[in-house]
Amino acid sequence: MSLKRSTVQQLLSSQELDREVLVKGWVRSRRGNKYVQFIIVNDGSTIHTIQAVANLEQFSEESLKDVGNGACVAIRGQLVASQGKGQAVEIQATEVTVLGKADAEAYPLQKKATSLEHLREIAHLRPRTNTFGAVLRVRHALAFGIHKFFNDRGFYYVHTPIITGSDAEGAGQMFRVTTLPPDNPPRTEDGAIDYSQDFFGKQTNLTVSGQLEGELAAMALGSIYTFGPTFRAENSNTARHLAEFWMIEPEVAFNELEENMDLAEDFLQYLVRYALEHCPDDLQFLNDQYDKELLARLGFVTDNAFQRLTYTEAVEILKSAKQKFEFPVDWGTDLQSEHERYLVEKHFKKPVILTNYPKEIKAFYMKLDEDGRTVRAMDVLFPGIGEIIGGSQREEDYEKLLGRMADMHVPADELSWYLDTRRFGTAPHAGFGLGFERLVLFVTGMSNIRDVIPFPRYPKNAEF
Ligand code: 4AD
Ligand code: MG
Repeated sequence: MSLKRSTVQQLLSSQELDREVLVKGWVRSRRGNKYVQFIIVNDGSTIHTIQAVANLEQFSEESLKDVGNGACVAIRGQLVASQGKGQAVEIQATEVTVLGKADAEAYPLQKKATSLEHLREIAHLRPRTNTFGAVLRVRHALAFGIHKFFNDRGFYYVHTPIITGSDAEGAGQMFRVTTLPPDNPPRTEDGAIDYSQDFFGKQTNLTVSGQLEGELAAMALGSIYTFGPTFRAENSNTARHLAEFWMIEPEVAFNELEENMDLAEDFLQYLVRYALEHCPDDLQFLNDQYDKELLARLGFVTDNAFQRLTYTEAVEILKSAKQKFEFPVDWGTDLQSEHERYLVEKHFKKPVILTNYPKEIKAFYMKLDEDGRTVRAMDVLFPGIGEIIGGSQREEDYEKLLGRMADMHVPADELSWYLDTRRFGTAPHAGFGLGFERLVLFVTGMSNIRDVIPFPRYPKNAEF
C-alpha cells in the first residue's frame, strides 16, 4: 500500500517517531554543505515548517538541483527527533521528488523582503507567505466560529440573494447587474433605458446587505443569521473599505435594542476568544512580526464590558475633548472614524456601543424613538477600526415605517414584499451587521483591510 501524506502540522505534533512518513509542500529554503543538505518545507497546514535532511552520500547534487525556493516537493523518509536546535522533529530523507519546479531567477520571494502592497500584485505568491498564510487561517477559524456561535444558540443560517431588485440601505451605492448591451441598450419612447427587456424584466443590482430578506426569515424562524458577500460601489479609498466584503447579519424576532447589544457583545467576545484558542501560533507570529500590541488589544476586547452610551452623550464628550479633530462635531452630524477612535482609544479605553443616533443619518428601517428625533440604532466601535458592527431595532409599525420611507425617499412600491411583514403578524425585532473583514482586520492586527481578503476589490482594482 502506498504511504499516505502527512501534513506538516501532523508531523510536528506527532508523538510517534522513527517511522516512515511522506510530506508534500513548497520549499522555503535549502542550505547545507557538501555532506548534508537541509530542505525546509511548508505546506500551509501551519505557520511552522519541517526540516528534511538529505545526506549527500545518498543524494547526488544533480538530483537536488531543482529543490530550490518555491519548488513543490514530495519528501519521503524517517521521522526522527531532531539533532539540531529550533525543531523537535525532522525527516531523514530517503526520497525527494520535485513535483513542480520554480525558476530560481524569476521566483520573487527570495530576492528581498516583499512589501504587503507589492504582494497584492503577485497573486500566486501572496498566499504562500507566512503573513497571508496566518491571515487566511485566522479568517477560516473566524468563519467557522461564527457558524458555531449561532448554531449552538439555535439560530438558522439563511442564504439571502446576491442579485436583488432593491437597495437595502437606501444609500444608492450599488453595482448594476444587467444583460443589456452597454453600447446600445433598448430604449422606451421617452428615451430611457428599457429595463423591461433586461434579464429580470427590471433593474437589478448586487446586494448591499441581506438584512431585508433576513427580516422575513426571522419573522418565521425566530432567530436567523446570514453570512454572505455584499457589494458597495462607494468610492472609499481607505484602509477599512472594500467594494466586495462579507457580512454576517443576525436578525432576531422579539429582541429589542438592549438584547441586540447583548448579542453583539457576546458574539464579538466569543469570536476573539475563539481565534485566540484556535490560532495561537498564527496570532503570536502576527503579534511579533507586525504589531507588538496585538495580543494585548485582543485581551482588551475579551476582558472589558463594552461601554454603552447614546450618540447625544458621545457628542457632548467629543465637543469638550481637548483633542483637535479634522472634522467638527455637532449634534446631527455623522461621526468620523477619528471621533469613534477617540471615544474608544482615548476616552473610555474599551470597546464602545453608541446608540440612538439622529434619524436623518441612519437607514429608513430603524425604529423611531419616542422623541421622534432619534432612532434605535447601535454602532459597535473598536480600537484601531472604528465601526465594526452597525445595527438597530427595526420599525415594526407599518404606518411609521411608511412615513420614514417617504421622508427618506425610499420607494415603497419596490419594497412592498418587505412592508408586508408589518401587515401580517408584525413583531418587535432587531439585528445587526458585522463586517467580516473588519473583524479579521482587528483580530490579525493587519493595518489594511485589503490584506485580510484573498482577492480584494477596491476602486480601480479587479485584476485577479
Ligand atoms: O452599518 P452597515 O451599512 O449596516 C448594514 O448594512 C445593516 N443592513 C446591518 C444590519 O443591521 N443587518 O454595515 C454593517 C457593517 C459595518 O459596521 C462595517 O463593519 C461593514 O459592515 N462595512 C464594510 N466593511 C468593509 N467595506 C465596506 N465598504 C463596508 N461597509 C460596511
Ligand atoms: Mg453603519
